[in-house]
Amino acid sequence: MDWGMKNRFSRLFDRESGRAVWLAIDHGYFLGPVSKLENPTRTIKPLLPFTDALMLTRGVLRNCVDAGMDIPFILRVSGGNSIVGPALSNEDIQTSMEEAIRLNASAVAISIYIGTEHEHQTLLALGKLVDEAQRYGIPVLAVTAVGKELEKRDARYLSLCCRIAAELGASVVKTYYCDNFEKVVKSCPVPVVVAGGPKLDTELDALKLAYDAIKDGAKGVDMGRNIWQSPKAVDMIKAIRSVVHNGVSVKEAGKLLK
Ligand code: R5P
Repeated sequence: MDWGMKNRFSRLFDRESGRAVWLAIDHGYFLGPVSKLENPTRTIKPLLPFTDALMLTRGVLRNCVDAGMDIPFILRVSGGNSIVGPALSNEDIQTSMEEAIRLNASAVAISIYIGTEHEHQTLLALGKLVDEAQRYGIPVLAVTAVGKELEKRDARYLSLCCRIAAELGASVVKTYYCDNFEKVVKSCPVPVVVAGGPKLDTELDALKLAYDAIKDGAKGVDMGRNIWQSPKAVDMIKAIRSVVHNGVSVKEAGKLLK
């Protein structure tokens, strides 16, 4: 790995634990103003001190985030779909590498939709993005998206997706937690982080998801709704950090939720 790529990549992970708590706030790119993210500035302000990296679009970055921020960010560069459109999987690259560099992104993110009608298109887009990103030393985060088909999230499917993403050159893969998650991690030659998915019933459920994912080999979380849709969002991100960085049990971490 070249120095620039190494440097950008290492900034995304905590120096001591080597793991990461990334805050995902990119949902608006296809969902519009989702609950609790109507005003991104307000949502993220109290959470930023506890965030290793932000994941977001250029629009929210430019309009809602202070340029003096010293936290690295992962720029979502794929899109072109919407929740009310004909196919959620119909994504392509919508933000250029030049723009990512101009904005000082530490990594770029793209979704791939394996097993859908747009599998080919999104995988070729990943390959092209990796080619460009390599040229400038920018890590690529591939997101194994499932759209509305949440039931797809099993170890067989997610292992396939993560492995393909790594084979096509992703530096890191974001996927969902599932039973037999160890299998997903072990068969993926690059680090894996987990998304939280839709808001779970309780905060403890989300802490358990993070705990199990780390136990099974994840390098961290890239979590959104289960943090900022919680009425205790700041306590929640602190609790997630204690699980991810300090290996604290779910019960102990739960005590941080005042
Ligand atoms: C997908 O919409 C985005 O890539 C999100 O960043 C991702 O799903 C993680 O957010 P959440 O934890 O809310 O699922």
